[in-house]
Amino acid sequence: MITVIGVGPGDLGYLSLRAAALFGEADVVAGFDAVVDVVRPIIQPAAQVITMGYRDQTEKLSEVANAHREGKRCVVALMGDVHFSGFQLLERVERACGHPVETIPGISSAQMVASRAKVCFDETTFITFHRRGDLEPFKSHLLHALADGRNAIVIPRPWDFMPKDIACYLLENGVSPRHPVEVFEKLTGDETVWKGALDELVLEFSDMSIMLVLTLEPMPSQIGSN
Ligand SMILES: C[S@@+](CC[C@H](N)C(=O)[O-])C[C@H]1O[C@@H](n2cnc3c(N)ncnc32)[C@H](O)[C@@H]1O
Repeated sequence: MITVIGVGPGDLGYLSLRAAALFGEADVVAGFDAVVDVVRPIIQPAAQVITMGYRDQTEKLSEVANAHREGKRCVVALMGDVHFSGFQLLERVERACGHPVETIPGISSAQMVASRAKVCFDETTFITFHRRGDLEPFKSHLLHALADGRNAIVIPRPWDFMPKDIACYLLENGVSPRHPVEVFEKLTGDETVWKGALDELVLEFSDMSIMLVLTLEPMPSQIGSN
């Protein structure tokens, strides 16, 4: 069996009981170093740990697929939830083993942002730039979401489309500088938050950052005007 499990935002306390049980029973646990480190305290000592990087993912996932064919219980761990900015890894896992695999949800960094900033999912669009290839369709989706009066929770792309680049792109494309923005770093860990207006976002952030662009607040003159 291979299961792909979201480990949540970083603090083990956010892992579901179902996910914890599967990690505790697994013969093989695979994932990026930082992700495996989150669940290391609950992995059985005899379990084989396969850590991977962006370059050797395919090779390491075929090791996991071989272990699965030998009847071992395998778990591939990833940050947050697999259904937000995690699909490329899921596709690679399914390609390596040749069939669909089960996924177990985790608490996404997007859910943590919504919880910290108290924004409603149903009024918010989720966009990730943390992907390979052309970002243009996703940039345009962000512009449309904001034009439609929706909040946007945005994962930047290290290191060429970071929060300040996203702000710059939005301003260049006519988005109002008055949009309130929040940037969260290392949620549930050594957490920090920056809050300001879109045109004040000129700071550098680490790759563990996620951005919230809020809908435009009405001008004082517009309040109660209808
Ligand atoms: C490949 S995406 C995976 C997102 C993950 N699937 C999720 O649901 O949160 C990795 C990016 O998510 C964001 N991220 C994940 N965990 C975070 C955290 N604890 N705090 C801030 N940003 C986080 C960062 O931008 C990071 O580079």
